Amino acid sequence: MGFLEWATSPWGQRVPIHIAWFLIWVAVIAGLLFFIVHATYLRYFAKAREFAGSNSPLLVARIPEHVPRHSLTARLFHWVMAAAMFTLLFTAFLPKVGFQFNWVTYHWIAGAVLTASILFHIIHASFFMDFWSIWPDRIDLRDARRRMLRSVGKAAPPPDRFAKYPLENKLYHGAIIAAGLSVIITGVFMMSRVRTIFFPRNPYLFSDMTWGMMYVLHGLAGVGLIALIMVHVYFGLRPEKRAITKSMIFGWMSRDFYLEEHDPARWPVEPSESPARSRGADTEGLTDAG
Ligand code: HEM
Repeated sequence: MGFLEWATSPWGQRVPIHIAWFLIWVAVIAGLLFFIVHATYLRYFAKAREFAGSNSPLLVARIPEHVPRHSLTARLFHWVMAAAMFTLLFTAFLPKVGFQFNWVTYHWIAGAVLTASILFHIIHASFFMDFWSIWPDRIDLRDARRRMLRSVGKAAPPPDRFAKYPLENKLYHGAIIAAGLSVIITGVFMMSRVRTIFFPRNPYLFSDMTWGMMYVLHGLAGVGLIALIMVHVYFGLRPEKRAITKSMIFGWMSRDFYLEEHDPARWPVEPSESPARSRGADTEGLTDAG
């Protein structure tokens, strides 16, 4: 049972043509296994989370009731990307598992939307957002070690609360970048094999072997995305993550959730017209939330 399907080129060379489609089921089963293992671990084995430090009442009073988390632009990007991603997954894989339809046109159109939205996101994140907020920092790595030690009953100080994104989200984002850029870069070249509005069809752009490798990479990253997207949706639906999912719809999360999970020193938010201040309390010496 090979992981790739092969063919013989007109010149007698054996070339890969794409991945073997049973890998679709491998990805779906991997995603389902992840749900089962994670949900069982949380239900029966995970210890209650504990974080270092606490919030002073003065600081709490400065945090707005609705903490802004995602701008309207960022939310629109997310949902456009999600629609394109689901369209790509369904148009690519439904025909492979027996639902035949004329999928290629829908697929490259969704591919073009995904490509445009990701280009937009790269510019938006680089120049208008806090670019570094999604990359692991030293505190994340130190705290990952602490959490690991504590989970096996070893002595370690409690970890800090998270910055805007926990380490797990940052690692997930990295995996999505790798798989997403792989399908996008190969997909843009593959568009020259089919008729689109962008450039004239030219199936001779690369050798049969290069095309074969490109289809293989496109397929591998594609099935990887099945599992990655399943895991993303699973977390989005989990009750303890609902505040985060809601923030991708409404743009904000509650002050309570923010203070419980996030460290105002690592993810500062604009102070509200503070009740403490409006009551005339002395806010002198209150360090900035960041
Ligand atoms: C979630 C993302 C994506 C997935 C899961 C995915 C999956 C697939 C799969 C499984 C195929 C069939 C390949 C084969 O027969 O070996 C395919 C073909 C194709 N994909 Fe994607 N793809 C994705 C994103 C993209 C993007 C972003 C583009 C364009 C920028 C694109 C353009 C194409 C084109 C043009 C074909 C048709 C090639 C042909 O029939 O010769 N795909 N895709």
